[in-house]
Amino acid sequence: MSDSLLQSDIAEIVAGLSETARRLSGKTVLLTGGRGFLGRYFTEVFVHLNEHVLDSPCRLVVLDNLITAGEEGSRMPDLPHVEFIRHDVIEPFKWDKPVDYVIHAAGIASPYYYRAYPVETLLVSTSGTRNMLELARLQQAHFTFFSSSEIYGNPDPKHVPTPESYRGNVACQGPRACYDESKRVGETLCYVFHDKYGTTVNTIRPFNVFGPGMQETDYRVLPNFASRIKSGHPLHVYGSGDQTRTFCYITDAMIGFLLTVLRGVPGETYNIGNPKPEICLLDLVKRIESVLGRKIEYDIIEYPDSYPADEPDRRCPDIRKAHVQLGFQPKVDLNEGLKRFLAWADGVYTGEH
Ligand SMILES: NC(=O)c1ccc[n+]([C@@H]2O[C@H](COP(=O)([O-])OP(=O)(O)OC[C@H]3O[C@@H](n4cnc5c(N)ncnc54)[C@H](O)[C@@H]3O)[C@@H](O)[C@H]2O)c1
Repeated sequence: MSDSLLQSDIAEIVAGLSETARRLSGKTVLLTGGRGFLGRYFTEVFVHLNEHVLDSPCRLVVLDNLITAGEEGSRMPDLPHVEFIRHDVIEPFKWDKPVDYVIHAAGIASPYYYRAYPVETLLVSTSGTRNMLELARLQQAHFTFFSSSEIYGNPDPKHVPTPESYRGNVACQGPRACYDESKRVGETLCYVFHDKYGTTVNTIRPFNVFGPGMQETDYRVLPNFASRIKSGHPLHVYGSGDQTRTFCYITDAMIGFLLTVLRGVPGETYNIGNPKPEICLLDLVKRIESVLGRKIEYDIIEYPDSYPADEPDRRCPDIRKAHVQLGFQPKVDLNEGLKRFLAWADGVYTGEH
């Protein structure tokens, strides 16, 4: 067990999957981006399932080029029934052994990194998705694509909470386009492979997942805040601080992701997130104060050059479809999730980034 993730959280994920997890017995899963934040959770959940739940072990093949995997992802130990292959999914991947599930989670997810690597961001969701779909088609494997809530762009307030049917309000040029537009193309590729070749696909649109295991150098909002808290410096809130988000604790998100992989209706797309509360960043700071029980200083600043401006004003998922079709229901409320994440980060982060 990697000490960067909480064992109790892994057990909570496995318990939340209950009997559905048995479908993985004896199967082979190919996971891209397996050394990233979510990928490391998938890996640990599979290891736990093999040890405690499955009659016959599930084999996991992890691909990652380590571009944003950081220290944590680069130094993962060997684990039983897990094979790591360093590979850039922008290049075709030859694999002639049987595969039952392909989970394409490789991506450049943090706005800080997609600002730094715009071409790589675009290609991993377009060429990378095409290569992995091709492999799933040849192997007749189930394919899951990690898209993003960002494909909705800056939604019209009439469409917040946002259902999967909303078509989005997105700019094809601008600092975020390399991410959101390429995820949209990735989704279209999934649609085409399903429609033309009958490949079994599901698409997941995660909404701001957080939890232990996020690297201090991730630069998404909660690791950013936790790192500043550790250093004793005021938090940096970008823009006005009025922009809203919802935050889904990792255990709930992982249950939603695995329910999609194992029970998703073929061809369907699911929002996975926690709609409550939709909270603006200034209120998020207040929430952190109440969880920590002390005053937290903050400054409202302009977007730094390293971070793409043009952020959506609001983001909140409508999760009724995932609830009805998959039985997905987040259980960890924001205060409890923040408590677990901030306690973990306090023990692991250095405050030096
Ligand atoms: N975590 C979230 O809240 C969230 C929200 C929306 C979408 N997503 C999507 O979910 C997926 C996983 O997110 P995450 O939070 O784990 O991100 P992450 O950045 O922590 O991990 C992504 C991993 O993909 C790898 N990678 C990037 N390009 C690659 C390539 N060309 N070939 C092989 N590996 C490559 C990176 O090295 C990294 O280890 C991403 O596709 C992301 O866009 C995540």
